[in-house]
Amino acid sequence: MRLICIFIALLILITQISMVACKTRNHVPSVIVFGDSTVDSGNNNKIATLLKSNFKPYGRDFEGGRPTGRFCNGRVPTDFIAEAFGVKKNIPAYFDPAYTIDDFVTGVCFASAGTGYDNATSDVLNVIPLWKEVEYFKEYQEKLRIHVGKEKANYIISEALYVISLGTNDFLENYYIFPTRRLHFTESQYQDFLVDIAENFVRKIYSLGARKLSIAGLVPIGCVPLERTINILGDHDCNEKYNNVALGFNAKLENMISKVNKELPQLKALSLNAYDIANDIFTRPSYYGFEVVEKACCSTGTIELSYLCSDKSPLTCKDANKYVFWDAFHPTEKTNRIVSNYLIPKLFAAYR
Ligand SMILES: *[C@@H]1O[C@H](CO)[C@@H](O)[C@H](O)[C@H]1NC(C)=O
Repeated sequence: MRLICIFIALLILITQISMVACKTRNHVPSVIVFGDSTVDSGNNNKIATLLKSNFKPYGRDFEGGRPTGRFCNGRVPTDFIAEAFGVKKNIPAYFDPAYTIDDFVTGVCFASAGTGYDNATSDVLNVIPLWKEVEYFKEYQEKLRIHVGKEKANYIISEALYVISLGTNDFLENYYIFPTRRLHFTESQYQDFLVDIAENFVRKIYSLGARKLSIAGLVPIGCVPLERTINILGDHDCNEKYNNVALGFNAKLENMISKVNKELPQLKALSLNAYDIANDIFTRPSYYGFEVVEKACCSTGTIELSYLCSDKSPLTCKDANKYVFWDAFHPTEKTNRIVSNYLIPKLFAAYR
């Protein structure tokens, strides 16, 4: 009799432990991505823009040496994040015809290289504006409800981890290039304008069921090789003015995130700040095993990205792991991995 009791008690204990284990494991069933080329996994392949990367040498260190439309020699941070959460190895692009709604159950990417918070930014290279990424998210929800049923779809939508990464292009592709925004906004006013759009975006996807939102700020944008190249007066150093604008933007973004967390019940928004880790990589690259930071791997490494970064160039580096930047605007997979390894514990602490 005693033995049977002990046996039953053990059985109950084991069941409870495994239930707890299951619950933790399923806490983030999917990773859903919005943003720009920092996280685009191939949506621009299918739209009428010049800003593409679905050709070699892009992707040469990706599985099978395949150019996917990621602006990298390999994987982007959201791929590493999805893998760390155990949902999938790489996040497929919503427009990639190789994938179906079945693949998107555990993660999907709506990001579009070249986009920004500001509609005028996505107009520059005719890419998907942020508001339209939200329209595709709505369409995706409909398909998901049909595919897995309403209840499971709602569970996925509310428990998924959302990663939002954009803002660089608003400054580097729009504000500092074209006069329109500069005539209307000071830098500080433009930061406010963008953060207002970010707040509306958060409220919008919250109203569509999203709860776990991690929002990336900006890295030191004045240090990308292209900006160094054109910083002639500054001796081709990082553009410190741009870096300070990035810091100011991040501070305002963080204020907004604290505010919405207080206002919206059950919202768990997190600021994903990669400025310091990126700055550390840019200032002491050799500590991380890099040999080159001023120039990118692709071609001359000074101005080339998208179609200018072509397989024809004999100058492209042999080992991208020695370079912080892959093209004149985007980090190598190795840099993406270091940044991701820094961010993942923060995401685990918040959501797992
Ligand atoms: C961007 O464009 C969309 C569609 O025209 C519009 O609904 C939205 O209000 C615009 N955003 C801003 C901040 O102007």
